[in-house]
Amino acid sequence: MKILIINGPNLNLLGEREPDIYGHESLADMELWLSNQPEATTHEIEWFQSNHEGKIIDKIHDEMKTKDGLIINPGAFTHYSYAIRDAISSVNIPTVEVHLSDIENREDFRRFSVIQDVCIEQIKGMGKTGYLNALKILLINDDK
Ligand code: DQA
Repeated sequence: MKILIINGPNLNLLGEREPDIYGHESLADMELWLSNQPEATTHEIEWFQSNHEGKIIDKIHDEMKTKDGLIINPGAFTHYSYAIRDAISSVNIPTVEVHLSDIENREDFRRFSVIQDVCIEQIKGMGKTGYLNALKILLINDDK
């Protein structure tokens, strides 16, 4: 499978940003860790990070013909970007939503995701393992 992993705003600062919530590993550390997992070695995985809503939308549009699955951590866009939600529902790519932290048990505004119902599943509070679990879900979904 060809999988695109999108990380949204402020996730470029992982490792430095609120380490008590997001841990000490950088996004590059997580990419390396995932690329060494057995499930990842036989599939083509592309990582993309942007702090800009339009760039994330353009990336989803650009990849709609070439990717078989999308894993997305939209950062704060999760809670209010109808435009990213519409981009996901406009392309026919099975999508899993990932959050490093447990958005259910933080501030009230984080509890609601506007993209959740256009995704196969939402994974939260598992740190980097969430990306691996999202990959496994896409692989199982592809076998159906
Ligand atoms: C996040 C949770 C969001 O509420 C927050 O705005 C982020 C990261 C997570 O991975 O836990 O930037 O998506």
